Amino acid sequence: MNVPDSEGKTVPGADGTSGSKVRDMFAIGDNIRKVIDSSVLPKSVKILDTTLRDGEQTPNVALSIDDKIRVAQALDEIGVGIIEAGFPITSEWEKEAVSRIAKLGLKAEVLGLSRSNKKDIDAVLECGTGSIHLFIATSDIHLKNKLKITREQAIEKAVESIDYARSHGLKVEFSPEDATRTDLTFLKEFVSAVQEAKADRIDIPDTVGIMIPQAMNYLISELKKICRVPIAVHCHDDFGLSVSNSLAAVLAGAEEVHCTINGLGERAGNAALEEVAVALQTFYGVETGIDLRKLTHVSRLVSKLTGVAVQPNKAIVGDNAFAHEAGIHVHGLLGESSTYEAISPEIVGKERAFVVGKHTGTHAVQAKLKNYGIEIEDSQLKELVGRIKKLSEGGKKFDDAELIALAYDVLGRGDEPAKIRLDEFAVFTGINFTPTATVTIDIEGKQKRASETGIGPIDSSLNAIRSAVSKNIVLKEFRLEAITGGSDSLCEVTIKLGDRRDESIISLGKSVGADIVITSVEAAITALNRLCYIKNDLIAE
Ligand code: KIV
Ligand code: ZN
Repeated sequence: MNVPDSEGKTVPGADGTSGSKVRDMFAIGDNIRKVIDSSVLPKSVKILDTTLRDGEQTPNVALSIDDKIRVAQALDEIGVGIIEAGFPITSEWEKEAVSRIAKLGLKAEVLGLSRSNKKDIDAVLECGTGSIHLFIATSDIHLKNKLKITREQAIEKAVESIDYARSHGLKVEFSPEDATRTDLTFLKEFVSAVQEAKADRIDIPDTVGIMIPQAMNYLISELKKICRVPIAVHCHDDFGLSVSNSLAAVLAGAEEVHCTINGLGERAGNAALEEVAVALQTFYGVETGIDLRKLTHVSRLVSKLTGVAVQPNKAIVGDNAFAHEAGIHVHGLLGESSTYEAISPEIVGKERAFVVGKHTGTHAVQAKLKNYGIEIEDSQLKELVGRIKKLSEGGKKFDDAELIALAYDVLGRGDEPAKIRLDEFAVFTGINFTPTATVTIDIEGKQKRASETGIGPIDSSLNAIRSAVSKNIVLKEFRLEAITGGSDSLCEVTIKLGDRRDESIISLGKSVGADIVITSVEAAITALNRLCYIKNDLIAE
């Protein structure tokens, strides 16, 4: 999508984002544009994702072949241009994974990593990827201590391997490993030789993450003077600068950036794809081909499959990236979201969240309660916020269900007799038996009985309750968490119910107990009573 920039020219925007949101994004870019040299800045930047190779080198991460395939498909879906699927020489298993990814028929270019020798290249050829990522170290530290070869020998090996790979029909991306600690005169000589040998792209790895943005900008500018093929950068995060260094390289003309989802990778990891893609599109208006709205989904998928949790305060995809607690901030946001948000959360597939805690102000609490159909007077709101702050200072954490329970207490509804009470409940389940639940529910003194089946005991129980009370009830969310370990552990169930006739109505119930079915039923009854309070015609149906 093209949108007008601050000077009225059209610049590329984030795929799938609305004009006004993209303009929001570009508001940040006005000052940055002053340092952009548009004769150097590329129009678009390719993302090479190496989650399946460098990302898998994260300590204690090992993906199954099926999981690697799922990640490759997800990367392709979000629009990654190049996928580094693995390092085929490392094992037969890895070879199998890369081969299967190569056969998926993805839109993305798929490549395998290879050292500069025939055995490694043959392993990539066996996978049928069509492209190869070749590397050899060029810094004196690596040449002397690891490879024990001279600079000239490194050039020879690089050229020979490019010749061999190309003669077998492979497209070649070449990396002088540890380029950023390589003597610049030699690096230029090396890059020229690799280019002469007809490498298709040259990558500059900051292997141990020792660059700063200004130095990266200088290095890429120097290499651009001699490079006719596209330049990529591969930045590690040892000093937390991988994204900044990648952006600085693009400002100097780099046309490709190596990234990983959630910044996974060796040691402190690599540049995080979600941060690089959003920053490139937001700050520079450079197109990356990435559908930003799908970033949160792919981040969660990779976190689940690798078992590496995303830190809550992680930029773009962390749980707190669009969560607000401070009263002043919430007040500002409720008036105009750009006051305290650099970009709108929907742009990256997230939702804004107001968190209730020590720093909460009245506006956040009022907005939250309104969401659940609860109106509250000013004096009661003040009392409620006072109680929240006091409890939070004592270490209490609030979720929405607890906030509502406290609000009901302040509103004096906590002591009111419930409209809906569960008189009898039984559920039958087993193997080769359809789970069936029967309930007798007292609704304002009138007994209603219902039996329903479901795909499990909880499902059938909730269906029976719905049948007895009202078919208009819809289950919006069901969350079950074990509080302690072991088969006798306590569980916590949170249930969100709605009214089929009115999308805006939601109610929340929570219960803690030892039996997951009974605890779920209790949470549902709490949510139902709250729903009746918001929507008093619910049980008349
Ligand atoms: O960090 C690095 O230098 C690498 C190379 C293999 C490109 O991962
Ligand atoms: Zn690396």
